[in-house]
Amino acid sequence: MIEDKQRWNDRHVTRPMSKDASKTLVKYVKHANIDKALDIACGTGRNSHFLSSLGFDVDAVDISDFALTQIDNTPTINKIEADLDSYNITPNRYDLIVNMNYLNRRLTSQMKDALKSGGLIIFETFIVAHGEFQMPTTNLDYLLRKNELLHIFIGLDIIYYEEKIEVNRLGERVKVASIVAKKS
Ligand SMILES: C[S@@+](CC[C@H](N)C(=O)[O-])C[C@H]1O[C@@H](n2cnc3c(N)ncnc32)[C@H](O)[C@@H]1O
Repeated sequence: MIEDKQRWNDRHVTRPMSKDASKTLVKYVKHANIDKALDIACGTGRNSHFLSSLGFDVDAVDISDFALTQIDNTPTINKIEADLDSYNITPNRYDLIVNMNYLNRRLTSQMKDALKSGGLIIFETFIVAHGEFQMPTTNLDYLLRKNELLHIFIGLDIIYYEEKIEVNRLGERVKVASIVAKKS
Protein backbone atom coordinates (compact mmCIF):
# COMPACT_ATOMS: atom_id res chain seq x y z
CA MET A 1 0.00 0.00 0.00
CA ILE A 2 1.36 3.42 -0.96
CA GLU A 3 0.47 4.85 2.51
CA ASP A 4 2.52 2.09 4.20
CA LYS A 5 5.48 2.86 1.98
CA GLN A 6 5.33 6.58 2.80
CA ARG A 7 4.78 5.94 6.51
CA TRP A 8 7.75 3.57 6.72
CA ASN A 9 9.95 5.85 4.63
CA ASP A 10 9.18 8.67 7.09
CA ARG A 11 9.83 6.44 10.05
CA HIS A 12 13.18 5.25 8.73
CA VAL A 13 14.24 8.91 8.40
CA THR A 14 12.93 10.17 11.75
CA ARG A 15 13.73 7.09 13.86
CA PRO A 16 16.72 5.26 12.34
CA MET A 17 16.99 1.65 13.42
CA SER A 18 19.93 -0.12 14.98
CA LYS A 19 22.81 -1.05 12.72
CA ASP A 20 23.77 -4.03 14.90
CA ALA A 21 22.66 -7.45 13.73
CA SER A 22 20.07 -9.20 15.86
CA LYS A 23 21.68 -11.01 18.81
CA THR A 24 19.47 -14.03 18.19
CA LEU A 25 20.62 -14.19 14.58
CA VAL A 26 24.28 -13.83 15.56
CA LYS A 27 23.95 -16.62 18.11
CA TYR A 28 22.02 -19.15 16.02
CA VAL A 29 23.16 -18.56 12.42
CA LYS A 30 25.71 -21.36 12.89
CA HIS A 31 22.83 -23.83 12.47
CA ALA A 32 22.25 -22.71 8.86
CA ASN A 33 23.97 -23.83 5.69
CA ILE A 34 25.70 -20.80 4.22
CA ASP A 35 24.03 -20.36 0.87
CA LYS A 36 20.72 -18.63 0.06
CA ALA A 37 19.01 -16.41 2.68
CA LEU A 38 15.85 -14.33 2.80
CA ASP A 39 15.60 -11.28 5.06
CA ILE A 40 11.90 -10.46 5.39
CA ALA A 41 11.12 -6.76 5.99
CA CYS A 42 14.86 -6.14 6.04
CA GLY A 43 14.67 -2.44 6.94
CA THR A 44 18.03 -0.71 6.55
CA GLY A 45 19.77 -4.05 6.33
CA ARG A 46 21.49 -4.71 9.64
CA ASN A 47 20.83 -8.46 9.31
CA SER A 48 21.36 -8.60 5.53
CA HIS A 49 24.78 -6.98 5.95
CA PHE A 50 25.72 -9.49 8.63
CA LEU A 51 24.60 -12.44 6.50
CA SER A 52 26.40 -11.11 3.45
CA SER A 53 29.60 -10.80 5.51
CA LEU A 54 29.30 -14.50 6.39
CA GLY A 55 29.01 -15.48 2.72
CA PHE A 56 25.24 -15.79 2.32
CA ASP A 57 23.55 -14.69 -0.87
CA VAL A 58 20.68 -12.59 0.53
CA ASP A 59 17.29 -11.61 -0.86
CA ALA A 60 16.39 -8.50 1.18
CA VAL A 61 12.72 -7.50 0.91
CA ASP A 62 11.11 -4.32 2.19
CA ILE A 63 8.38 -1.87 1.19
CA SER A 64 10.51 1.18 2.01
CA ASP A 65 12.59 2.33 -0.94
CA PHE A 66 14.38 4.73 1.42
CA ALA A 67 15.41 1.85 3.72
CA LEU A 68 16.72 -0.11 0.75
CA THR A 69 18.95 2.81 -0.29
CA GLN A 70 20.71 2.42 3.07
CA ILE A 71 21.76 -1.14 2.21
CA ASP A 72 25.18 -1.70 0.63
CA ASN A 73 25.27 -2.24 -3.10
CA THR A 74 26.98 -5.60 -3.24
CA PRO A 75 26.40 -8.60 -5.49
CA THR A 76 25.54 -10.74 -2.44
CA ILE A 77 22.52 -8.62 -1.44
CA ASN A 78 19.58 -8.61 -3.83
CA LYS A 79 17.37 -5.69 -2.77
CA ILE A 80 13.69 -6.29 -3.49
CA GLU A 81 11.23 -3.42 -3.07
CA ALA A 82 7.89 -5.12 -2.48
CA ASP A 83 4.74 -4.98 -0.40
CA LEU A 84 4.75 -8.13 1.71
CA ASP A 85 0.95 -7.95 1.87
CA SER A 86 0.95 -9.23 -1.70
CA TYR A 87 4.49 -10.60 -2.25
CA ASN A 88 4.82 -14.38 -2.56
CA ILE A 89 7.92 -16.28 -1.45
CA THR A 90 9.36 -18.84 -3.86
CA PRO A 91 8.97 -22.37 -2.46
CA ASN A 92 11.97 -24.58 -1.64
CA ARG A 93 14.50 -21.80 -2.21
CA TYR A 94 16.16 -20.79 1.06
CA ASP A 95 18.72 -22.23 3.50
CA LEU A 96 17.90 -19.47 5.98
CA ILE A 97 14.89 -17.19 6.48
CA VAL A 98 15.17 -14.28 8.89
CA ASN A 99 12.14 -12.34 10.14
CA MET A 100 12.93 -9.70 12.75
CA ASN A 101 10.56 -7.17 14.32
CA TYR A 102 7.86 -7.73 11.73
CA LEU A 103 4.71 -9.85 11.62
CA ASN A 104 2.66 -10.80 8.59
CA ARG A 105 0.61 -13.90 9.31
CA ARG A 106 -0.20 -14.35 5.60
CA LEU A 107 3.44 -15.32 5.03
CA THR A 108 4.08 -17.87 7.76
CA SER A 109 3.02 -20.98 5.80
CA GLN A 110 4.88 -19.64 2.75
CA MET A 111 8.00 -19.34 4.91
CA LYS A 112 7.82 -23.02 5.83
CA ASP A 113 7.36 -23.96 2.16
CA ALA A 114 10.22 -21.67 1.13
CA LEU A 115 12.77 -23.47 3.30
CA LYS A 116 14.83 -26.15 1.64
CA SER A 117 15.29 -29.42 3.48
CA GLY A 118 17.71 -28.58 6.33
CA GLY A 119 16.75 -24.90 6.08
CA LEU A 120 16.60 -22.74 9.18
CA ILE A 121 14.12 -20.07 10.25
CA ILE A 122 14.99 -17.39 12.79
CA PHE A 123 11.91 -15.35 13.68
CA GLU A 124 11.62 -12.78 16.46
CA THR A 125 9.03 -10.12 17.04
CA PHE A 126 6.81 -8.46 19.60
CA ILE A 127 4.23 -10.29 21.65
CA VAL A 128 1.10 -8.90 23.29
CA ALA A 129 1.87 -7.35 26.66
CA HIS A 130 -0.02 -5.07 28.99
CA GLY A 131 0.72 -2.92 32.01
CA GLU A 132 4.16 -1.41 32.27
CA PHE A 133 5.27 -2.40 28.74
CA GLN A 134 5.73 0.17 25.96
CA MET A 135 4.92 -1.91 22.90
CA PRO A 136 5.61 -0.33 19.47
CA THR A 137 1.99 -0.88 18.46
CA THR A 138 -1.37 -1.76 19.98
CA ASN A 139 -2.62 -3.23 16.70
CA LEU A 140 -3.15 -6.92 17.39
CA ASP A 141 -2.51 -7.73 13.71
CA TYR A 142 1.14 -6.95 14.38
CA LEU A 143 1.57 -8.56 17.79
CA LEU A 144 2.02 -12.25 18.46
CA ARG A 145 -0.13 -14.03 21.02
CA LYS A 146 1.38 -16.19 23.74
CA ASN A 147 2.96 -19.35 22.24
CA GLU A 148 1.71 -18.41 18.77
CA LEU A 149 5.16 -18.55 17.17
CA LEU A 150 5.79 -21.98 18.66
CA HIS A 151 2.42 -23.15 17.36
CA ILE A 152 3.12 -21.85 13.83
CA PHE A 153 6.44 -23.67 13.50
CA ILE A 154 5.70 -26.74 15.66
CA GLY A 155 6.16 -29.12 12.69
CA LEU A 156 9.82 -28.11 12.37
CA ASP A 157 12.68 -29.15 14.67
CA ILE A 158 12.69 -26.48 17.36
CA ILE A 159 16.23 -25.44 18.33
CA TYR A 160 15.23 -22.50 20.55
CA TYR A 161 12.01 -20.83 21.68
CA GLU A 162 11.57 -18.09 24.25
CA GLU A 163 9.19 -15.33 25.26
CA LYS A 164 11.07 -12.70 27.19
CA ILE A 165 11.13 -9.11 28.37
CA GLU A 166 13.68 -6.85 26.71
CA VAL A 167 14.67 -3.23 27.14
CA ASN A 168 14.72 -1.38 23.80
CA ARG A 169 17.03 1.43 22.67
CA LEU A 170 14.76 4.01 24.32
CA GLY A 171 14.99 2.20 27.65
CA GLU A 172 11.42 0.92 27.35
CA ARG A 173 10.37 -2.56 28.40
CA VAL A 174 8.95 -4.68 25.58
CA LYS A 175 8.05 -8.33 25.26
CA VAL A 176 9.32 -10.46 22.39
CA ALA A 177 9.00 -14.04 21.23
CA SER A 178 11.88 -15.74 19.41
CA ILE A 179 12.11 -19.03 17.58
CA VAL A 180 14.89 -20.86 15.80
CA ALA A 181 13.68 -23.94 13.94
CA LYS A 182 14.94 -26.27 11.24
CA LYS A 183 13.11 -28.10 8.49
CA SER A 184 13.98 -31.82 8.34
C1 LIG B 1 10.53 -2.55 12.77
S1 LIG B 1 11.22 -2.58 11.14
C2 LIG B 1 12.29 -3.99 11.22
C3 LIG B 1 13.39 -3.95 10.20
C4 LIG B 1 14.38 -5.11 10.25
N1 LIG B 1 13.73 -6.40 10.14
C5 LIG B 1 15.20 -5.06 11.50
O1 LIG B 1 14.99 -5.88 12.39
O2 LIG B 1 16.05 -4.16 11.59
C6 LIG B 1 9.87 -3.17 10.16
C7 LIG B 1 10.15 -3.15 8.66
O3 LIG B 1 9.03 -3.67 7.96
C8 LIG B 1 8.87 -2.94 6.75
N2 LIG B 1 7.49 -3.12 6.32
C9 LIG B 1 6.36 -2.72 6.96
N3 LIG B 1 5.27 -3.06 6.26
C10 LIG B 1 5.71 -3.70 5.14
C11 LIG B 1 5.07 -4.30 4.01
N4 LIG B 1 3.74 -4.32 3.89
N5 LIG B 1 5.83 -4.87 3.06
C12 LIG B 1 7.19 -4.87 3.15
N6 LIG B 1 7.86 -4.33 4.19
C13 LIG B 1 7.13 -3.75 5.18
C14 LIG B 1 9.24 -1.52 7.14
O4 LIG B 1 9.63 -0.73 6.05
C15 LIG B 1 10.38 -1.76 8.11
O5 LIG B 1 11.63 -1.73 7.43
